[in-house]
Amino acid sequence: MAQWPSVFQLNLLLLIVLVVQFSEADRPSLFNMFDHEPQENSTKWAVLVAGSNGYFNYRHQADICHAYQILKRGGLKDEHIIVFMYDDIVNSSLNPRPGVIINSPNGSDVYAGVPKDYTGESVTADNFYAVLLGNKTAVKGGSGKVVASKPNDKIFVYYSDHGAAGVLGMPAGPLVYANDFINVLKTMHASQTYDKMVIYLESCQSGSIFEGLLPTDLNIYVTTASNKQENSFGTYCPGMNPPPPPGFDTCLGDLYSISWMEDSESEDLHKETLEQQYLKVKKRTYNNDSSEGSHVMQYGTLCISNETLSIYQGSAHKKLSTNGFQSLDFMGVVDQRDADLYSMWTMYNKSTEKPQLREELLKQIKEITAHRAHLDICVDEIKGYLLGKGHGSVRGEGSALVDDWGCLKSMVRVFETYCGSLTQYGMKHTRTFANMCNNGVTTEAMEKVSKVACHGYNMGQWNPATVGYSA
Ligand SMILES: *[C@@H]1O[C@H](CO)[C@@H](O)[C@H](O)[C@H]1NC(C)=O
Ligand SMILES: *[C@@H]1O[C@H](CO)[C@@H](O)[C@H](O)[C@H]1NC(C)=O
Ligand SMILES: *[C@@H]1O[C@H](CO)[C@@H](O)[C@H](O)[C@H]1NC(C)=O
Ligand SMILES: *[C@@H]1O[C@H](CO)[C@@H](O)[C@H](O)[C@H]1NC(C)=O
Ligand SMILES: *[C@@H]1O[C@H](CO)[C@@H](O)[C@H](O)[C@H]1NC(C)=O
Ligand SMILES: *[C@@H]1O[C@H](CO)[C@@H](O)[C@H](O)[C@H]1NC(C)=O
Ligand SMILES: *[C@@H]1O[C@H](CO)[C@@H](O)[C@H](O)[C@H]1NC(C)=O
Repeated sequence: MAQWPSVFQLNLLLLIVLVVQFSEADRPSLFNMFDHEPQENSTKWAVLVAGSNGYFNYRHQADICHAYQILKRGGLKDEHIIVFMYDDIVNSSLNPRPGVIINSPNGSDVYAGVPKDYTGESVTADNFYAVLLGNKTAVKGGSGKVVASKPNDKIFVYYSDHGAAGVLGMPAGPLVYANDFINVLKTMHASQTYDKMVIYLESCQSGSIFEGLLPTDLNIYVTTASNKQENSFGTYCPGMNPPPPPGFDTCLGDLYSISWMEDSESEDLHKETLEQQYLKVKKRTYNNDSSEGSHVMQYGTLCISNETLSIYQGSAHKKLSTNGFQSLDFMGVVDQRDADLYSMWTMYNKSTEKPQLREELLKQIKEITAHRAHLDICVDEIKGYLLGKGHGSVRGEGSALVDDWGCLKSMVRVFETYCGSLTQYGMKHTRTFANMCNNGVTTEAMEKVSKVACHGYNMGQWNPATVGYSA
């Protein structure tokens, strides 16, 4: 008999615990009347993509991991967050904090808990599309997790990497081409797999992915790190202000990316709107100087920007110690395309006591530099021959990079066949290839000229037959 009360008390305690937990989990709905969060039955989904690999691109995977932590704290469930990251940073012999990834100098670990949905060679453009389309059978490798969303659901997509006119990098397989990506978005809209979608994109020339391409009636709101012709920037880089902790010879983050994330961590996401975040991030990313900053842009269904961040990013509690977002101080930055060489030189300069590492670094730097010079010279020569002078032009405001995307892909493939892989650096020439298409140059002509321009070049490690074609 004496046991009855205690069992009852235990049950009561359990009930209280459950009720308390339930109301904690349900907390966001209590705010509905303040922040216009929809009352309906709606799930938040997120797709996070780091499109690069290698320790010298540390920052892109760090950005993605950080975003995961914000969304997770905000209440999104792991089953609704799909992460693409090569996952070669944390155990890299160059990582001064094995097992840990940070995204700001004083930041804590952002790696712990990140779902490993698509890692290594499964970080591909095709898997990215399949995941967005919710097509499990089209996925190759990885966890198989896809966006299995319903018509009422919200989707947040965040991508950080190298890019160029009309393309985004991927560590394995071909690049993401803007028209393929936009077609995926159109299909998703047509099959009513979401209510609204928000896309944040960091890459060089990121505006070119959407300008003249993204319709305004898909219920998709986009902000990009840069306009269609500018580069974007890495930050928290060695030797700059603010620097990473000692021992890091690579940049920890990217300017647009850390700007939105540090803002999301320092504001009440139930109050701040997407528009307010856009304006703040734009200001910080401009970096008080257009030559060391970029113009954050917005595209798509702009009226979505009056909604609160909490609808897409959840409702993470404000962090007590944030990374000084309030101050709009100038941030030391390095151009995405130069960031890897910059990091390698930093490491080289520092490793006077490690002759073997130094020698290896110098060898790599020389090879990379030589291949880049080769790409630039060949593209210049080919362009001069096929287009003459003055056709490196950027199409007018609001127009797409190219009309015939099949032509652009063919140009890329033909070029790589004769001249070697474009790499994360050489993809900057996609605008030239697009202009060839826009000016009616045929792939046959391109083939003839590329063959001559790159005759006898030893592709070495940049043979597309080994590393894969960009198209
Ligand atoms: C919410 O949607 C799910 C899946 O469509 C459904 O099973 C559930 O019954 C819905 N709940 C409410 C309260 O409408
Ligand atoms: C990193 O190394 C640890 C310890 O050996 C291992 O458990 C973990 O799976 C490795 N992670 C990756 C991403 O390689
Ligand atoms: C899913 O992908 C598979 C394989 O690529 C394809 O055959 C199928 O048509 C796709 N399903 C849908 C609904 O698009
Ligand atoms: C946002 O703008 C749309 C269209 O102008 C409007 O219908 C909607 O009520 C606005 N939402 C909020 C939260 O103000
Ligand atoms: C990191 O913390 C140190 C010591 O508190 C501070 O001086 C520095 O400004 C911080 N750096 C950043 C980027 O917040
Ligand atoms: C921005 O640049 C101007 C002119 O160079 C300078 O006077 C100002 O102090 C800078 N502002 C910040 C916040 O760095
Ligand atoms: C490396 O050292 C050289 C020579 O002192 C210097 O010119 C260069 O700026 C340094 N590079 C980096 C990234 O620290």
